[in-house]
Amino acid sequence: MVIKTNITEMFGIKHPIISAPMGPFYTTELTVAVSEAGGLDVLSNTGLISEYEAGKSPVEIMKENMKYVVEHTDKPFGFNILASRIAPSASALAKDIPQFIMENPKIKEQCMYALTSAGSSKLLPSSKSFQKLRETSNIKHFHVAPALWLADKCVASNVDGMVITGNEGGGHQSYERVTSLILLQQVTQKYPDMPIAACGGYATGQALAAALSMGAGAIVMGSRFIGSKESEFHDAIKSVIPPARAQDTVLVTGGFGPIRLWKNKYSLTRDLVASKEDKMAQEAQTSPEEFVEQSKKYELAYRGNINDGAVLLGQSIGIINSIERVPDIIDDIIKTAEKRIKTVSAYIN
Ligand SMILES: Cc1cc2nc3c(=O)[nH]c(=O)nc-3n(C[C@H](O)[C@H](O)[C@H](O)COP(=O)(O)O)c2cc1C
Repeated sequence: MVIKTNITEMFGIKHPIISAPMGPFYTTELTVAVSEAGGLDVLSNTGLISEYEAGKSPVEIMKENMKYVVEHTDKPFGFNILASRIAPSASALAKDIPQFIMENPKIKEQCMYALTSAGSSKLLPSSKSFQKLRETSNIKHFHVAPALWLADKCVASNVDGMVITGNEGGGHQSYERVTSLILLQQVTQKYPDMPIAACGGYATGQALAAALSMGAGAIVMGSRFIGSKESEFHDAIKSVIPPARAQDTVLVTGGFGPIRLWKNKYSLTRDLVASKEDKMAQEAQTSPEEFVEQSKKYELAYRGNINDGAVLLGQSIGIINSIERVPDIIDDIIKTAEKRIKTVSAYIN
């Protein structure tokens, strides 16, 4: 049995399950595993601070990752660009990656999902090379909206779909702090025909059944896939997922706004700014050296130092009970969702 939705149809994928972008880290092996298992994965906007210092650019890394993916799977996949005004290489990625895709027929055939986040939903639509790619391929542009007013902006930018992400999620968050439950209802009520992927706190078949019932066409999972055998994340990070509790994360201020981190020695010393205005004032006083220091904390955790590094994880770690292979994770979620949907349908007489 399969669950068919507007999103599975749009991308020609078997299951309504998408993997979240998790930059600045590598998710290349994860992309292959999720796409091969019938979901849709997205290459993160990768670039570790040591790579920047060695002169490697996110554009170069993205191209290498795309080549790797099409060598290892024939299935659809996507990529993420962090569109923040302070994200390194945002405009270079928006210009060069669509061009690179057009020059590589296999990548063009398989790369169907362009996801922008943490900044303007107009970044990609205003890139000439992306406009050309859109005219000559089946690529779809989604943008991450963590608040209703940001979903309005996505629609105004003529996106093909949106990732609606609530405050429970790991990593980048908005200042609004609206939960996934409320935000998904707000957006699906206002835009019932828009393809929507529900994100933030989703890790189980129950959550997939709930998201589909509320009008989403798929779920997007980050923390659940970090806790998979195939993900590139360090075993030390995987080892905290089970046994962590849902309350073991904290919201603090990161480079591009609030981020949700696992509670440890590092995150418990960080502050949380109250608003975007405060954050911009803080940024104006942040030296480039301090920014580099923060980025080093991400890499420290990624390399396995989970006490002193910044470990990005969401509240869903409290409902992830084991580290499994990606096909098993997806299989379990689909089977549980089907069971829940059937049980609930039987309530109607
Ligand atoms: C390690 C990590 C890195 C992340 N990096 C990014 C990123 O580069 N771009 C982005 O749009 N979101 C990023 N996020 C947020 C995820 O895309 C997604 O919204 C979140 O993981 C969903 O919540 P979940 O962890 O409960 O599944 C990151 C999340 C994690 C856990």
